[in-house]
Amino acid sequence: MKQMHITETVLRDAQQSLIATRMPFGDFEGVLDEMDKAGYHSIECWGGATFDSCLRYLHEDPWERLRKIKAHMKNTKLQMLLRGQNLLGYHHYSDDTVRRFVRKCVENGMDIIRIFDALNDLRNIETAVDECLKAGGHAQGCICYTLSPIHNLDMFVALGKQIETMGCQSLCIKDMAGIMSPQECYDLVTALRKNIDLPIYVHTHATTGLGYMTYLKAAEAGAAGIDCATSCMSGGTSQPATESLVYALTQMGYDCGVDPAALKRVNDYFLPVKERFSASGTFDPYVLSTKTDALTYQIPGGMLSNLVAQLKAQNAIDKLDAVLAETPRVRADLGYPPLVTPLSQMVGVQATVNVLLGERYKNIGKEIKSYIRGEYGKAPGEIDPALARKVLGDEQPMSGRFADTLAPEYEAAKAALGDRATSEEDVLSYIAFPQQAEQFFERRAKTFTASYLFKEVG
Ligand code: CO
Repeated sequence: MKQMHITETVLRDAQQSLIATRMPFGDFEGVLDEMDKAGYHSIECWGGATFDSCLRYLHEDPWERLRKIKAHMKNTKLQMLLRGQNLLGYHHYSDDTVRRFVRKCVENGMDIIRIFDALNDLRNIETAVDECLKAGGHAQGCICYTLSPIHNLDMFVALGKQIETMGCQSLCIKDMAGIMSPQECYDLVTALRKNIDLPIYVHTHATTGLGYMTYLKAAEAGAAGIDCATSCMSGGTSQPATESLVYALTQMGYDCGVDPAALKRVNDYFLPVKERFSASGTFDPYVLSTKTDALTYQIPGGMLSNLVAQLKAQNAIDKLDAVLAETPRVRADLGYPPLVTPLSQMVGVQATVNVLLGERYKNIGKEIKSYIRGEYGKAPGEIDPALARKVLGDEQPMSGRFADTLAPEYEAAKAALGDRATSEEDVLSYIAFPQQAEQFFERRAKTFTASYLFKEVG
């Protein structure tokens, strides 16, 4: 019987996409044993924005969250998303930090680490992949899916071969914007399977309405697994629904390995959780509506809403059409970077500035300059020579790997923290998000003292 692995994303991508990653551990602790018995191939539960959110908003130690989840998972693999050399932050970290961080992920219970680079510059995932393998984890390398005149099957297959050569045990086609059509998915999975031996996992979002169809074509082309979200936390900017896909795929002769009754119990558990987020306004049903603009403008849905918000704030919403026309031109000038964090924001802001100032590149953002200098990695295509000259002058862009220019960070951070850090994990949290980690440590110290005194008295 044909197999299809199901990865459940409710604890990471689904809640990140629908409720800005605001779900505290206590909201899902009670369902973890049930989830463990459901038969998922893996549960994506950590990484992405969860780390930042734990420290910044939820006052949780992200590492402790991981250990607590692991304690309930006797049968099911845990999975996380890692932004290569950016780890879970927004800039490049030194190699010593990346190695320690990845090792600690595995030591604290992570099984599968899905690793990507926003530019598909695989030099930026090499260190993380290497350390994951050394630590005994499963390294899944990603191709960030995007459409442009230079992105084609040959380019994606070449990336797939590099990912295989690097030693990754599986490959993920990561369609962060939900723009991959069913046919494109079928062709890509087919081409990859012809050329590499790795199992192929497909990740998409329901944003444009294509996701369900895309997954069926992924199955038809022989993908090993798909990412889904329990139905009450599915759809729109989240993943397609787990129960619906399992229902459809089972009839098509696939063994998804999951127990439908358990899937229902998992969903029943999350219904009231979601209701609470609705009541508090954190969950806005707007995110569930199907948005096909991404297909017309080739701009991810989240980016479009950012552009609208930016223009409204500038009282210039009448310029939206001009900005929508300028955005693909800026992206072309930059060599067609995939529009994923942080490039989506950078391109959007530059397009807006170009339009509002009435002159292209009169003012160039700091991040765009770093990008042109090669500090984010290699641009997928050629950067417009006139724009490059404007930023670089006579300098040459960096051709090496940016992280090679970074000094080791760990020992200095450890010294700076002193006894406020109680573990290597603390130091890593601090390197990743210094301010948020410091605030978290302060709060933790106070809570600890209070409970200690209480015990003394009681
Ligand atoms: Co995603």
